[in-house]
Amino acid sequence: MDKKIVVLSGDGIGPEIMDSGLKVFNAIKSICHHSYSFEKKPFGGAGIDELGAPLPQTTLTACQAADAILLGAIGGPKWEKMADTPEQGLLALRKSLNLYANIRPVSVSSALLEFSPIKPAIVEGTNLIIVRELSSGIYFGEPRELTETMAYDTARYNKSEIARILHTAFKIAQGRSKKVTSVDKANVLASSKLWRTTAEEVAKEYPDCQLEHQYVDSAAMKLIQNPTAFDVIVTENLFGDILSDEASVLPGSLGVLPSASHSESGPSLYEPIHGSAPDIAGKGIANPISMILSLTMMLRQSFEEEPAAKLIEDSCEAVLAKGIFTHDLGGESSTNEFTEAIIREITRTTY
Ligand code: NAD
Ligand code: IPM
Ligand code: MN
Repeated sequence: MDKKIVVLSGDGIGPEIMDSGLKVFNAIKSICHHSYSFEKKPFGGAGIDELGAPLPQTTLTACQAADAILLGAIGGPKWEKMADTPEQGLLALRKSLNLYANIRPVSVSSALLEFSPIKPAIVEGTNLIIVRELSSGIYFGEPRELTETMAYDTARYNKSEIARILHTAFKIAQGRSKKVTSVDKANVLASSKLWRTTAEEVAKEYPDCQLEHQYVDSAAMKLIQNPTAFDVIVTENLFGDILSDEASVLPGSLGVLPSASHSESGPSLYEPIHGSAPDIAGKGIANPISMILSLTMMLRQSFEEEPAAKLIEDSCEAVLAKGIFTHDLGGESSTNEFTEAIIREITRTTY
């Protein structure tokens, strides 16, 4: 059956890495069970430029009717002073689709070991998943206000919002090492106190799993000091945003980390964890691995295309093992050269 994918390339390096992801998809489509159609829609700064809004109604309607959404990245200096920014469009999209569960896997393959600024002996074997609550917390809490002299936000969580993301984390942990680290600031924040007691309650439903709590400040330190001690980390929206960029130091670049965002029902969204990288946009040097791995997450989690996803991952690993790297990892390859190398690897295996 034809699966409809809405493609939101976005801004900055977004279209460059999306182009790479779609080329890789084209190379594996013959081994997919389903057939796929792709529909590009303006979003973010591109939405503002083309249709006057970061999340144009036609884009939202297409996303709501899609089987999955692929997103590049949004934002940039051109739009940051506007009343309705690309970032607001991204938050509105996440909220509209009720994408509460953001899954951010972080692993360090042996080919990347030397690129981490952390000693290889510490990062070797890193394989963790950050489960970030994505549709609530301080990103969305009301009231909020900004004046010339005063500003505030509201970090608000309902118990049901905390419970459902904890369930997501435990279910993921059941398929892994059965250990969940819940990260909060329960020594200070009311929202974190509720987070912690709710985590304890949900944990009772998963007697096969172990739950530990860490405060976010200490967790940020331990993530770098001893990353292999973590398996599934579950945390609120803002802490998950910060810890996942921090975790990208382990494999050596923000440009290699993908993500998946799920609701209870309806289309999931797949996007790199990084932004539009205005500092390198237009140079053709962005690392497309984050987008390519987001594609593999889509193939697995929305469409059960395990062989295709595995082939992409293996091909990516093979290219890295040959010493082909983009600039962020100290290599010389352009986005296109790196992408072509992956496609050569895929084609070698499939034909
Ligand atoms: P960023 O993630 O865009 O870039 C941070 C650093 O990482 C930069 O030096 C950049 O060059 C590098 N980098 C990121 N992705 C890379 C890749 N694939 N290959 C090589 N290097 C890469 O963060 P920023 O500069 O703080 O933000 C830029 C814009 O992106 C802002 O408007 C921000 O709001 C937006 N943003 C969007 C998303 C998203 O679309 N989901 C995520 C984060 C930031
Ligand atoms: C991310 C980004 C977004 C976030 C911004 C662009 C709104 O940093 O996806 O991690 O904070 O969630
Ligand atoms: Mn972020």
